[in-house]
Amino acid sequence: MKRCPDKSLSDILCYNSSSTLQASRWRWRSSKKKPTFKIVAFLFFFFFFIGISVRLKWLTKSAIHADRPQNATCPQHFRWIHEDLRPWRETGITREMVEGARRTAHFRVVIMDGRVYVEKYRGSIQTRDLFTMWGLLQLVRWYPQKLPDLELMFDCDDRPVVQSKDFLDPKAGPPPLFRYCSDDSSLDIVFPDWSFWGWGEINIKPWRKVLEDIKEGNKRTKWKERVPFAYWKGNPHVDPSRRDLLKCNLTQHQNWDTLLYSQDWDKESKEGYKQSNLEDQCTHRYKIYIEGWAWSVSEKYIMSCDSMTLYVKPRFFDFFIRGMLPLQHFWPINDRSKCSSLKFAVEWGNNHTSQAQAIGEDGSKYLHENLKMELVYDYMFHLLNEYSKLLKFRPSVPAGAVELRPEMMIGAAKGLHKKFMENSLETSPNKAELCGLPPHDPTVLREFENKKLNALKQVEAWEKDYWENERKGN
Ligand SMILES: *[C@@H]1O[C@H](CO)[C@@H](O)[C@H](O)[C@H]1NC(C)=O
Ligand SMILES: *[C@@H]1O[C@H](CO)[C@@H](O)[C@H](O)[C@H]1NC(C)=O
Ligand SMILES: *[C@@H]1O[C@H](CO)[C@@H](O)[C@H](O)[C@H]1NC(C)=O
Repeated sequence: MKRCPDKSLSDILCYNSSSTLQASRWRWRSSKKKPTFKIVAFLFFFFFFIGISVRLKWLTKSAIHADRPQNATCPQHFRWIHEDLRPWRETGITREMVEGARRTAHFRVVIMDGRVYVEKYRGSIQTRDLFTMWGLLQLVRWYPQKLPDLELMFDCDDRPVVQSKDFLDPKAGPPPLFRYCSDDSSLDIVFPDWSFWGWGEINIKPWRKVLEDIKEGNKRTKWKERVPFAYWKGNPHVDPSRRDLLKCNLTQHQNWDTLLYSQDWDKESKEGYKQSNLEDQCTHRYKIYIEGWAWSVSEKYIMSCDSMTLYVKPRFFDFFIRGMLPLQHFWPINDRSKCSSLKFAVEWGNNHTSQAQAIGEDGSKYLHENLKMELVYDYMFHLLNEYSKLLKFRPSVPAGAVELRPEMMIGAAKGLHKKFMENSLETSPNKAELCGLPPHDPTVLREFENKKLNALKQVEAWEKDYWENERKGN
């Protein structure tokens, strides 16, 4: 009669269930007189009832645990939320500080009673501003009634502008400004970029769909059958460092094991983007990531291909790359000697195919699992939630603000933009648990940074050895 279906259940709970109780009762009873049938029946049902209720209660409890496990801890990169908000930990955020961020902001966002209001100051590049607002609106639909009231400033331009050197005094109160990337000498707060809900101008679908497509694409060409070269396709004209990369292209006179292609968006748009399907670009063993004028949106598409990403040393970071490690999720490339660094990486990978494949797949796995849309929303939620805790004033909707509503935004959009909004509309609230934000822990971050640094030094040392040997050999 006694069963303990859940092995992990503590012994005590199993012990307390009906049969044991009955058994001990029987022993106690039998030591006295033989009980009458009525008493036996009464006691039987009495304890049976108690047993059932104990068991039922326990069952409900375990059912809850099975359906909704303890909130899973958020992925590594969430830890930097605390780091991004550190400048205001002691002082809090005053209205004056927020107003100070208006100088460069494209718009102000107010979230109040679960509604989203926007006061727009200037137009952004393409539809970055619209799709960022759209993303915020979807967050509120994804987690209705959960977001606290708040007010923030958003800047849609590429490069961070709030320099730490201007705010060295701990009481300086830098303006809290949200944008898509930052760097080590800036205090801008990083937030997911617009492309997670689609990038209409170049036909990049909402991230949820892209992830599915790339997953399919990855199955098409097995790693070992992929072209054993480093591959990059993009716009080389946005930054000197990309023009520098072009020097490494394969020619009749040099072979750095690297193939580079210019992306001509005008031409592709006329041809209906047939050449730029992301899922068709997972055909090389190694894919190069290099920043543009700032961080590049291309990063997540490059890294989700199962190819080993050759990550040219960056200056900027977006919100998720901070949780990833060289040699585990990507291969670092020296930005001052790109060609020789690329050549070494490709040769190493072709000599150690299983390891290179593992790095490629681990990097992609990080994105497919830790950057799935659910967790992009969780990042936004936790960041905004922590931010709102710091506000020292009551948010209010300015007179010039407009409430964002999906019908209104979809109604105003055209073509691909309209389609991508329709496709990325969150139609029902999230039912799963929010992931648990790990507490602020500078030690963990420092350890992580050390690990990163050691991996970089390791690759640098290998490269140096290799090229020294090559020189000696020649
Ligand atoms: C790089 O080389 C390949 C093959 O030689 C060529 O097709 C391609 O156009 C070159 N890329 C650039 C940007 O010149
Ligand atoms: C790859 O293997 C070849 C042949 O064994 C060797 O000469 C070369 O140095 C290796 N390169 C790297 C980067 O491991
Ligand atoms: C766990 O999930 C619940 C419900 O989604 C949420 O209210 C709570 O804040 C989460 N816990 C943590 C530590 O984030």
